[in-house]
Amino acid sequence: MAVLEIRDLFVTVETDGGTTPILNGVNLTIRSGETHAIMGPNGSGKSTLASTIAGHPKYDVTGGSITLDGEDVLAMSVDERARAGLFLAMQYPVEIPGVTVTNFLRTAKTAIDGEAPAIRTWAKEVSGGMKNLRMDPKFAQRNVNEGFSGGEKKRHEILQLELLKPQIAILDETDSGLDVDALKVVSEGVNRAKENTGLGVLLITHYTRILRYIKPEFVHVMVEGKIAEEGGAELAERLENEGYAAYLPADAPLEA
Ligand SMILES: Nc1ncnc2c1ncn2[C@@H]1O[C@H](COP(=O)(O)OP(=O)(O)OP(=O)(O)O)[C@@H](O)[C@H]1O
Ligand SMILES: [Mg+2]
Repeated sequence: MAVLEIRDLFVTVETDGGTTPILNGVNLTIRSGETHAIMGPNGSGKSTLASTIAGHPKYDVTGGSITLDGEDVLAMSVDERARAGLFLAMQYPVEIPGVTVTNFLRTAKTAIDGEAPAIRTWAKEVSGGMKNLRMDPKFAQRNVNEGFSGGEKKRHEILQLELLKPQIAILDETDSGLDVDALKVVSEGVNRAKENTGLGVLLITHYTRILRYIKPEFVHVMVEGKIAEEGGAELAERLENEGYAAYLPADAPLEA
């Protein structure tokens, strides 16, 4: 049973214009087996929260804490965070030229478990995982994300999720750009991980369509770097119908 606790988190980023505050006191607790959705306008800080949890060096934590089972996540390096059981599926997965999917997955698994996976069972697990996610076996020999379509990148993120078996996964707009069938395939992957390993999920999304497949118990609305409201699945439906006008001044620039 894992608990990720985010307490009163303040984060800034250095820009040409100086130090810019992005997160302004975020509180959030995610436990094993729970599914949380974060929704919110563009630029409200959702990806910043995801990157900060994962340990992106660009983001400076100026206040608050993040702990996993009481351990100080902010004191851990990026790879220590992954070994502790945190996983981030990025909004924009990066290309890794010269590294094949097979090598990448095996290296990641070895780094996380502290020992290489047994060759025969591992090969089976990878090919089974790819089959479940309807990935062409040829992808195993391609370089990570190089020339992958948007949907292929997202399915590859879920393949990593299923193979690396983290405790808490943050999925940043994993549903964006997926066709109807891919959305189902990806959702089934997340639900399998929930069933098999009791995964806790933090799902960042703009749309309720993925929430029909991956049911959240908790929905949080992020506005201007803070959680502005919390509720159950019905809150997501309301946001999709009404937008975020209620949380923002009428003349707010869209990129505020
Ligand atoms: N590295 C950075 N340099 C400068 N500004 C940044 C950086 N990272 C984030 N920001 C700014 O912080 C704000 C929050 O960005 P973030 O990507 O977290 O938003 P988001 O809620 O994920 O939006 P979206 O729904 O569009 O993905 C934005 O105004 C963005 O321009
Ligand atoms: Mg984002």
